[in-house]
Formats: sequence, structure tokens, C-alpha cells
Amino acid sequence: MTRLTGKANLSEPPASANRAVILETQGLTRHFGKMTAVDGLSLSVKQGEVFGLLGPNGAGKSTVIKMLTTLLPVSAGKATLAGYDVTHQATAVRRVIGYVPQALSADGSLTGYENLLIFAKLYEIPASRRERCIREALAFMGLQDVAHRLVRTYSGGMIRKLEIAESIMHQPRILFLDEPTVGLDPIARTQVWTLVQELCAEYGTTIFLTTHFLEEADSLCNRVAIMQHGKEMITGAPTDLKAALGKSNATLDDVFIHYTGDQLASGVSYRETARTRRNAERLG
Ligand SMILES: Nc1ncnc2c1ncn2[C@@H]1O[C@H](COP(=O)(O)OP(=O)(O)OP(=O)(O)O)[C@@H](O)[C@H]1O
Ligand SMILES: [Mg+2]
Repeated sequence: MTRLTGKANLSEPPASANRAVILETQGLTRHFGKMTAVDGLSLSVKQGEVFGLLGPNGAGKSTVIKMLTTLLPVSAGKATLAGYDVTHQATAVRRVIGYVPQALSADGSLTGYENLLIFAKLYEIPASRRERCIREALAFMGLQDVAHRLVRTYSGGMIRKLEIAESIMHQPRILFLDEPTVGLDPIARTQVWTLVQELCAEYGTTIFLTTHFLEEADSLCNRVAIMQHGKEMITGAPTDLKAALGKSNATLDDVFIHYTGDQLASGVSYRETARTRRNAERLG
């Protein structure tokens, strides 16, 4: 199967360089009372790109995704997806997107198949095509053998895969994945990332994701935007952002720290947290 390498190279423009813009925000803003969660965000994502939105807890990443998926009204500014305006053409936007929310959302009291059937109806897949779409989505995510088991008996990784299956059945042009690998063990995480790459390579799906795993963002994303306190700090190809730091062997962690400071919202050092997490993974 064809795989995207994901990585941009300084000497070559990213594969998406000549492609059309499919997602664009201009001054996108969201207030919650007096608090500004997203503050004048202007982004542009090209068709077929894997675009990563990074930032500390509370930076506004999920709020951006909720506005782009029409789940939250925009306070100011605008956003268009495949040419449709999220505020004025919400129904058209919903038809071209898939969305996997940050919190696990599949219904545990139903089987995987039943969950998929609900989504097939929700996405208005004609009855004559539903079975085939469900079968294909199950096969793509490697869930055929557990399709008729109750979802509450699934592992976290299986549930995430099911949710991705739900979100791709109608072949969306843009897929939003809000922390798709949180809580997954390293093997399940790798499987999810592989599936994301395959989606991109096989169907040309544009992927807009958030993650706190910066090594993965580095290897998967054509470009990333780093946000803090609702504002865009920097956007670019990981390779370019690392090179711009001007130090040898810079990692995306270094870039993240450079633009957001070393303190997470909790007051704990990002570098320390990342190290603890990596050690915990190694210890299983
Ligand atoms: N419905 C809401 N009502 C009030 N405040 C909200 C609401 N949703 C989000 N916020 C606030 O908006 C800010 C951004 O939240 P958001 O969930 O977008 O952050 P995030 O970058 O996704 O963080 P995380 O990495 O923890 O998922 C936070 O301060 C949060 O408390
Ligand atoms: Mg979030």
C-alpha cells in the first residue's frame, strides 16, 4: 500500500505545494464570556495535507475544530471549507467533513456495526449502499472480527479505530481528528497513525489533527501551527521550523518550547512532562 512519508524537505517543496487551498480561516475568533479562547486565527490548509494544530492544554485547539465542524458558532472572523462558509453554509460543510472528537464518543451499549449504521444514516448514505460502506470501513480499520461485539468490550484503541471508521464512511474531503491517539498504547497509536497516512494516500483526504505527541506530529504532518492562548505563534513544515531555530538536532519539542515557553498550563515544565511520558511508555 502506498504510504506518505509525511515529512517535508527543505530542498523540496511539500507534496501539497501546488494543490488548492481547501480550508481557510481569517481572523477566526471565539469568546466564552469575557475569555477569548481563539483569537484571530488565520490559517490555510491545502488539499491532501496532513495539518497539525499544536499547543499547550487550553490553547484553543478543540475550540478551533468545533468551529470548523460547525458545532460551535464563530464569534468573529470567518472560515471556509471546500469553499463553504461554516456560518452561512453549515449543512454543506457538514457533508464534506468527518470528525473524531477528543473524548471517546462511540456508544458502548451497541455493537461496532450498530454504531456504524447510525453514522451511515446520519451521513445520509443511501440504504442500498450502507452495507457496503460499513463493510469497507470495518475492513479499512481492521475491525471485521469484532464488528458484532458490544463496544463496551473494546479496548481504547479499538474504540478510536471504530470512531475513525464512523467518520470516514461517507468519504469526507476533510477529516478532523482531535487527539486521535490520546490514551492509546504505543502499538495502537502507531496503527492509528498508519491508517491516517493510508487515508491520505489512498483517498487524498485532507487531515486536520491535534496532538500532544510532537514526535508523531513531526513525522506525520506536512505542516503544523503552534497556538498559545488562542493565538497562532508560528506555522510551517516541521523541518523548516526546526531549521529556523538554528541549533543542531533541534526537535519539534524544541520548537514548541521556543514558541510557547517551557511552562504548561499546569505550571509543570513541558520538557519534564514529555520525558516522564516517554519513560512511562518504555516501561509499558
Ligand atoms: N464551552 C466552554 N465554555 C467556557 N470555556 C470553554 C468552553 N470550551 C472551552 N473553553 C475554554 O477555552 C479554552 C480553550 O479550550 P480548548 O478545549 O479549545 O483547548 P485545547 O487546546 O483543546 O486544550 P487541550 O489540549 O487540553 O485539549 C480553555 O480555557 C477552556 O477552558
Ligand atoms: Mg482539546
